[in-house]
Amino acid sequence: MENQAALTRNRVDQLVQRLRGSRSVLALTGAGISAESGLPTFRGAGGLWRTHRVEELASFEGFWRNPALVWSWYNERKAAHRRARPNAGHAALAQLEKRFGDFTLCTQNVDSLHFAAGSRNVLELHGHLREARCTHCGARRELGESGLPLDEIDHPCGGRMRPNIVWFGEPLLQATWRQAEAAASRAEVILVIGTSAVVYPAAALATRYNRSAYVAEINPEETAISERIDCVLRGTAAEVLPRIVEALSPI
Ligand SMILES: NC(=O)c1ccc[n+]([C@@H]2O[C@H](COP(=O)([O-])OP(=O)(O)OC[C@H]3O[C@@H](n4cnc5c(N)ncnc54)[C@H](O)[C@@H]3O)[C@@H](O)[C@H]2O)c1
Ligand SMILES: [Zn+2]
Repeated sequence: MENQAALTRNRVDQLVQRLRGSRSVLALTGAGISAESGLPTFRGAGGLWRTHRVEELASFEGFWRNPALVWSWYNERKAAHRRARPNAGHAALAQLEKRFGDFTLCTQNVDSLHFAAGSRNVLELHGHLREARCTHCGARRELGESGLPLDEIDHPCGGRMRPNIVWFGEPLLQATWRQAEAAASRAEVILVIGTSAVVYPAAALATRYNRSAYVAEINPEETAISERIDCVLRGTAAEVLPRIVEALSPI
């Protein structure tokens, strides 16, 4: 344990050295950063919702087959988002943004917690759960505290209201994705936090756009990219990110 702690300290120091010499930083976050806010991650123990696989719930086909089931799931998630508060990991990323001239936060999360923590330059790669939009005419409506009433799924135009998020098999919003690619290409340090790094194209931001960036992962578990990157910090987001901010601050 002592060795592990010393190793992590050394690695935090190395990362902080790199950050000190950098102007441009990209952070990529996934469900793990919100785990300590009480929101479950997708894969692993909490990866099933009442015997339905998340992939079935998070696809256009699944939605069209059973929109009430899919909305029941998102309405529960929406209610959980409303109860959740940003944790020390979200807060540390908001602090980092203030410190760098060029800091882009790309998130795969739809829970809005980065905004709640004060981050501003946030690219929500998979959309967000603040709104629903019509599958046919594109009309949008804000989602209330408990989401969308199930008897309001059908839109008068003949379409159906769906969550304003990107599902499996759907393309990312072009403008958002282009900004993310550009930020990844110019980043000198890339922080990959709380993502299993298996959902593409988001995961590609970590390793594919920039061969010279220093890539660091913050995750208590090994992931698909752990072996290919420069710095692995095995710990939770709320533990490790504040240590980085603290070490970076002038004494
Ligand atoms: N739309 C949907 O409903 C749905 C369903 C499944 C996946 N997806 C998409 O897949 C994307 C990718 O999945 P993902 O990588 O975000 O989630 P994930 O559940 O695949 O991975 C979560 C990661 O967080 C790590 N983790 C757990 N607790 C942590 C903590 N306290 N601090 C830091 N890391 C911690 C885990 O070890 C794991 O590697 C999702 O963001 C989502 O957009 C969407
Ligand atoms: Zn419509």
